[in-house]
Amino acid sequence: SNKKIGVLVGSLRTESFSKKIAKVLAGLFPAGYDVELIDISKLEIYNQDFDDENRAPASYAEFRQTLSEQDAFLFITPEYNRSVPAVLKNALDVGSRPYGHNLWAKKAGAVVSVSPGNLSAFGANHHLRQSLVFLDVQTLQQPEAYIANVHTLLAEDGSVTNQGTIDFFQSIVDAFVALIEQLAK
Ligand code: FNR
Repeated sequence: SNKKIGVLVGSLRTESFSKKIAKVLAGLFPAGYDVELIDISKLEIYNQDFDDENRAPASYAEFRQTLSEQDAFLFITPEYNRSVPAVLKNALDVGSRPYGHNLWAKKAGAVVSVSPGNLSAFGANHHLRQSLVFLDVQTLQQPEAYIANVHTLLAEDGSVTNQGTIDFFQSIVDAFVALIEQLAK
């Protein structure tokens, strides 16, 4: 059966560069992969009181069900104040609890960081990786994916036309697919 890749984007902005890059990357997976965006915009801010089943917001159950169905997670994130945007960190937290029910564990993951600036959201990329270590996500190490000056890479319609950029994106997806296949053995 097809492998399921859940895409998590660390920006809710309508015209988000991260969302546009996520769409481009999703289009580079081979046949046999279902790549779908997981909506994290409706998740209430995590509160440990919600670990009590009777108090958990309705949005949590659906999100956790969706996470449990995935084979792998692709994280595309901008950087806010040199770290991971709260909306994405919140999603990590919601998916990691109640204690003993970490839904990220043992799944494959890949991190792509995006910025219109020169520093390519390195800080967000590595803060995210720090959490993924603890969450026991089997994260792709190489190639690392730091996307600087992202606004210069995207055409008006959200496409990427520079062949060198497309080749780089394809190399990320190919390495991620190889990791997923290796973990499935
Ligand atoms: C930013 N931005 C930003 N950029 C960066 O490279 N490093 C940073 O630390 C920050 N910090 C930051 C904080 C906050 C609160 C905002 C709103 C923005 C700029 C950011 O990269 C830019 O807004 C991107 O366009 C956000 O990504 P999306 O929404 O286009 O995906």
